[in-house]
Amino acid sequence: MNCEALDWTVLDRLRQGFLSGAAAKGPYWQSPADLAQYNLTYGERIGWKWDAVLRELTRRGWRPRSRTLLDWGCGSGVAGRRVLTAFGPENFDALHVWDHSAFARDFTITQGKAAFPALAVGPFADTGQPVGLLVISHVLNELPAEALQQLLGLIARAETVLWVEPGNHAVSRQLIGLRETLTSTFHLVAPCPHQGACGLLTVGNEHHWCHFFAEPPAGVQNDSDWVRFGQRAGVDLRSQAYSYLVLDRVESPSVDGASRILGRAEHFKGFARLLSCSADGVEELELQKRADADLFKQLKKDASHPLYRWEREDHRIVGAKRV
Ligand SMILES: C[S@@+](CC[C@H](N)C(=O)[O-])C[C@H]1O[C@@H](n2cnc3c(N)ncnc32)[C@H](O)[C@@H]1O
Repeated sequence: MNCEALDWTVLDRLRQGFLSGAAAKGPYWQSPADLAQYNLTYGERIGWKWDAVLRELTRRGWRPRSRTLLDWGCGSGVAGRRVLTAFGPENFDALHVWDHSAFARDFTITQGKAAFPALAVGPFADTGQPVGLLVISHVLNELPAEALQQLLGLIARAETVLWVEPGNHAVSRQLIGLRETLTSTFHLVAPCPHQGACGLLTVGNEHHWCHFFAEPPAGVQNDSDWVRFGQRAGVDLRSQAYSYLVLDRVESPSVDGASRILGRAEHFKGFARLLSCSADGVEELELQKRADADLFKQLKKDASHPLYRWEREDHRIVGAKRV
């Protein structure tokens, strides 16, 4: 990323639209240059969240079966490209893109053709057929009720859904609400370690939300262009909060007994406290450093928490195995 190439008039306008809610009022991309600016910066940061999600899925040996990918609300198309790259473009035949902005569709199609010359890349035309792999990224808080219904109609025809959103309380809670309605027709691949009702919906957990943190690739935090971008844009590049949902028609290998840490473990002198989600619900657990110093260190160092199987004594973790 070259900071000299950035147009702050465009970037400030876009960010202002995202933060103020104005982005929900209709198409806001004003030119291909808007998308190019977004793609280099805010879009790339979203790409780091996708990298974190896709790393976990590939580490678990999970992959989609559909050979057609639809990137809905594509913007500059970062999500679809990350997914194709992670699972191998040779495993796909087509990249379809949809956005209510023609600038966004055209930008993503041009980028997609350049990156994946062997794929059929084009605009999505809804013929009522099955959708294949549906990729959704950072679009939920821009959708009025009618547009959300349209998206839910596509989800109902999808084989697999990969969905990444910002990691704030409101959006995560909205995604949890959708999760609850979709579990009757899909299996939950991630982040949930169980197929039951979301534990965050129980009384007393209202102030919590399901979110995670993605680190930037190595070198970004020392890259003077990225550092200048972060300072100017007022964004912390060290970790990007996200929430997500991976849904599949086909059941994945069981992760029975597994737990996932929500948010971050908090570290204190000699112990850490964390919020753990499992089939038993969401509960606060503690880890004494002396019980497992390696795990204590790992939880501090690594922002992306895998699934664990805890060894516990009541509310204390005394050991853990990665799933
Ligand atoms: C914040 S951008 C995210 C773009 C891209 N998915 C990403 O993750 O970088 C939201 C995108 O959703 C699109 N969008 C918003 N409402 C839409 C709707 N009703 N139908 C289709 N696209 C929509 C916007 O035009 C914009 O490109």
